[in-house]
Amino acid sequence: MPDLRQTSGYLYLHDTKFTRKNIREKAGLAIAPAPAFKEYAGAEKIALPVNPARPAAELWGLLQQRRSQRKFADNPMSLDDLALLLWACQGVTAQAGPYLLRTAPSAGALYPIETYVAAERIQNLPAGLFHFNVRTFQLERLSEGAAAPLVARAALDQSFISQAAAVFIWSAVLRRNMAKYGQRGLRYILLDAGHICQNLQLAAAAQGRHSCPVAALYDDELNNLLGLDGEEESVIYLAPVG
Ligand SMILES: Cc1cc2nc3c(=O)[nH]c(=O)nc-3n(C[C@H](O)[C@H](O)[C@H](O)COP(=O)(O)O)c2cc1C
Repeated sequence: MPDLRQTSGYLYLHDTKFTRKNIREKAGLAIAPAPAFKEYAGAEKIALPVNPARPAAELWGLLQQRRSQRKFADNPMSLDDLALLLWACQGVTAQAGPYLLRTAPSAGALYPIETYVAAERIQNLPAGLFHFNVRTFQLERLSEGAAAPLVARAALDQSFISQAAAVFIWSAVLRRNMAKYGQRGLRYILLDAGHICQNLQLAAAAQGRHSCPVAALYDDELNNLLGLDGEEESVIYLAPVG
């Protein structure tokens, strides 16, 4: 068994510690930034309902209720409900200069996380893989046909994932954050993803649905499914909802 101090995780945390002495040299890397938004220009666009009714929900109750649940109802989800869940993940709630501020916080307002959806049972939306366009609040179709079983396979064959009405998949565009924060940026990227997933779980609970965070996955199998290179952009997290 390797000693904790020999693991790449430990060494990474150690190497990216800020101290009063190193703060100047450690802040920032001279690498080119990436665009702040991703858009699939040629993809079929599906407009999401902008102002769907929000179920009355009380934060304290939702915090008590939130659980990782691995059984999902058979009934389909409305497009309104899917739109609300996407809004909870990455909805724009304010603008500050060039930054589109969202429902979840992000280090430096850089928003390195992209959201994709494997839609299985959504009313009026044929099954497929989609990218969520934050700026236009649209889904962009990447492929047609049931994708949740493929996601489940790529997530260490955790079969409950294939029963979801929709699977939310999050990737990290490393350069978007790391051009500013350097090596330390990876810490922030993973924290950003955690905030988004908690928002999704609370929103799913408000809709009376089940959800489960999943990070056990064959990274490149999911990257291939979504057409990501696994270098500039790589899948890090997902959550089935139903
Ligand atoms: C980063 C992270 C990764 C997780 N990965 C998985 C996973 O791959 N499969 C799974 O069934 N649950 C996964 N979970 C869910 C945890 O098992 C669950 O959060 C934990 O048992 C506590 O239960 P609770 O979320 O209901 O409070 C993950 C949770 C987190 C936060």
